[in-house]
Amino acid sequence: FGYVNFLVDRTRGEIIDNLIEGLQRLEYRGYDSAGLALDGDKAGESIIVKTTGKVKVLKQKIVDQQVDRNTVFENHVGIAHTRWATHGQPMLENCHPHRSDPNSEFVVVHNGIITNYRPLKTLLQSKGMKFESETDTECIAKLFKHVYDTNAAAGVDLDLCQLTKQVLYELEGSYGILVKSTHYPGEVCATRKGSPLLVGVKTEKKLKVDFVDVEFPEQNSEPANNQDLNLLQKGNNLRTAQSRAFLADDGVPMPVEFFLSSDPASVIQHTKKVLFLEDNDFAHIYDGELHIHRSKRSEGDTTTRQIQTLEMELNEIMKGPYKHFMQKEIFEQPDSTFNTMRGRIDFENNKINLGGLRSWLPTIRRCRRIIMIACGTSYHSCLATRSIFEELTEIPVSVELASDFLDRKSPVFRDDTCVFVSQSGETADSLLALQYCLERGALTVGIVNSVGSSISRTTHCGVHINAGPEIGVASTKAYTSQFIALVMFALSLSNDSISRIDRHKEIIQGLQKIPEQIKKVLNLEDKIKDLCDKALNSQKSLLLLGRGYQHATALEGALKIKEISYMHSEGVLAGELKHGVLALVDDKLPIIAFATKDSLFPKTMSAIEQVTARDGRPIVICNEGDEIIASDKVMATLEVPETVDCLQGLLNVIPLQLMSYWLAVNRGIDVDFPRNLAKSVTVE
Ligand code: G6P
Repeated sequence: FGYVNFLVDRTRGEIIDNLIEGLQRLEYRGYDSAGLALDGDKAGESIIVKTTGKVKVLKQKIVDQQVDRNTVFENHVGIAHTRWATHGQPMLENCHPHRSDPNSEFVVVHNGIITNYRPLKTLLQSKGMKFESETDTECIAKLFKHVYDTNAAAGVDLDLCQLTKQVLYELEGSYGILVKSTHYPGEVCATRKGSPLLVGVKTEKKLKVDFVDVEFPEQNSEPANNQDLNLLQKGNNLRTAQSRAFLADDGVPMPVEFFLSSDPASVIQHTKKVLFLEDNDFAHIYDGELHIHRSKRSEGDTTTRQIQTLEMELNEIMKGPYKHFMQKEIFEQPDSTFNTMRGRIDFENNKINLGGLRSWLPTIRRCRRIIMIACGTSYHSCLATRSIFEELTEIPVSVELASDFLDRKSPVFRDDTCVFVSQSGETADSLLALQYCLERGALTVGIVNSVGSSISRTTHCGVHINAGPEIGVASTKAYTSQFIALVMFALSLSNDSISRIDRHKEIIQGLQKIPEQIKKVLNLEDKIKDLCDKALNSQKSLLLLGRGYQHATALEGALKIKEISYMHSEGVLAGELKHGVLALVDDKLPIIAFATKDSLFPKTMSAIEQVTARDGRPIVICNEGDEIIASDKVMATLEVPETVDCLQGLLNVIPLQLMSYWLAVNRGIDVDFPRNLAKSVTVE
């Protein structure tokens, strides 16, 4: 997160508050450590405060260190970071910001991984630089200083943009970076490749133009990577044209504040005007102007970046009366599922209208196969809907975990349709798989929650699931909305099919009732809390059994429980029980079985019998009023309303979301910040 004020007086205290507030909104993305960098009172002086732990610890440390809050700045750049550790443990030395030297001439915050940091580190050490941390990020700060010093020694006077461009030539991997420097007071460069970054713009005046021209590097100005950085030669061959900055269009500087962030949710309390950077873009902000440059020319580059207006509202990212974001998001599902369908389903005529896909449907209908690619919970939403895709479209569908799909270098063809499902739209594994499919000429579809995210911008077409911002690390409402969006996608692919009219009608009428039915399932909360207290809180392990449509529900339920309650749990295909897992069953192991009514119900019942015959006493999720099994053989039943077979998973998953939530709360776990996890994993 970064904050720049220009011709707007701000005390250091106000600047700190802005940075801390921004970090707190980003904290769900990583919470191993936090830190910030500010200007000191004298020119060339910096203040860096950092700590392991959460942002509130940083806030306290700033108070404890008695950082002066009164100095007023008319122009200032502050940068801040909250970390999910990749290279280097979460200890003080490894916290961001990182500095180039003890005088902090260059200070950097960074998301992502610099894959060539080892050779860079060796090179910089050979130039006499002393490293303070184990991180890859520190190389970036040191590289800035090295390039700067080398040029300065030769009398070459680089501006921050030229310098950044040279540094970027040497970096491999993924990054979202902010850099500030005592040599360039009041300026900041922000750059991204594979890691999200945006610029929020706040000004009292109306923007003259709502786009920024992009400046491209000159042809041949990109040097090959060179172990002993041939910097001076590159330095002579840089910027000629000035990119146009929209704010100073009439040449008169105006008061303005800029917010740099990896998530729009952290800027909307200040401004809704944002510009999303693309990969290889870098933004240079100075004198109240925003300039966008490219570090690399790529095919199909566009020449402007639009300033967009965010539609998000502040209350969407506040907890309201709830104790945790996860709890709020679970209870939002009657609304979020409704919002996914809003304006897209004609319930009278049983038609689906997905604007972002409409013109692509004929091509998709002709494709050789559909490959659904995702990670984590999003992967489960693909599994949950695969069968309805196959039934309605008669196109072969495979479902892939993005990392495994890439590891296998799975064959992809021009007549494949690849569907990328992602809440954040920024998951590195999914993004890399997307790139892989694009390179092979496949048609790509994004099913994404975050508007403006990399996946939604990079795919050919897609559907925004419109669930609203999801902040709890454990995904809940995104799952049910992804599920619905995918069902709508499958329905729209077979819209014109006469033989399926009745099935369509059944599913569409089923969808209409889902929000109300979710409300009913949420009423099970007290019973679930009770069950946790009586039978589950102290258990070490849990099995979830489901088959057919409910296999995905079992996997998703097990993931929720693992993620936030740290209880080992395993989702098992009920048909596979007898092939191994049955060995675990005894009168102690808690088991949850999904036995709602569908064509596989009798087979699920036989799995339940296999369990009860071994003295297991399962908790059974069944439809309202179903007399499943003699009550002395089950620990409890959780009754959910009945819906169409392919939608039942939308209702069945809710008790598991509630159960995982209460198990975690009862174990004293900070539900929104489960250990070792991050909401959006932007590294491979
Ligand atoms: C992380 C999160 C999961 C999420 C997965 C995929 O692991 O902790 O909750 O399901 O990433 O994220 P995406 O944003 O692509 O859906």
